[in-house]
Amino acid sequence: MLTNEVTKENLNKLVVSFYTRVLKDDLIGPIFKDVLGEDMKGDKWQAHIELLTNFWASIALGDFTYNGNPFAPHVQFQDKLSIKAFEQWMKLFFVTLNTIYEPQIAQQFLARSKNIAGNFIRNLQLS
Ligand code: HEM
Repeated sequence: MLTNEVTKENLNKLVVSFYTRVLKDDLIGPIFKDVLGEDMKGDKWQAHIELLTNFWASIALGDFTYNGNPFAPHVQFQDKLSIKAFEQWMKLFFVTLNTIYEPQIAQQFLARSKNIAGNFIRNLQLS
C-alpha cells in the first residue's frame, strides 16, 4: 500500500529497495560495487544505507541526522560518471519512490534529487 507519510522506517525501505535495483543495473551497478562491494549485507553497504537513510531523513523530516558533504565522495570516481549514469540513477530512484509513496510525495523526492543531481553534474562538468 502506498503511503503519504514519510517515516524513518519507510525511508530505510526506500534506500534498501533502491540499492537492490542499483546492484542489478548494468550501467551504474558496477560503480557502486567498485566502491562498496557486491554484498549489500557487508559493512560498507550497511554504513552507506544508514548514511543515506539519514541523508533523506534530514531532507524530508528535518531530523539533522546527516551532516556530511553529499558531493565530496563522488569526485573519487568521477571518471566513471556521466549524464547517462545520472539519468539511470534518477530512473531507478523514481521507480522505487513510486512503490512506496503516493505520487505527490514521490514527486517531491524526485524534484529534490533532480536538483541535487543537476548540481553534481555541473560541479563534475559531466557530459
Ligand atoms: C550515477 C549517479 C551516482 C553514483 C554512481 C553514486 C555513487 C555513490 C557512491 C559509490 C557513494 C559512496 C562513496 C563512498 O563511501 O566513498 C555515494 C555516496 C553518496 N551519494 Fe551518490 N551516487 C550517484 C548519485 C547521487 C545522487 C543523485 C545523490 C543525491 C540525490 C547522491 C547522494 C549521495 C550521498 C548523500 C552520499 C554519501 C556522502 C557522504 O559520504 O556523506 N548520489 N554515491
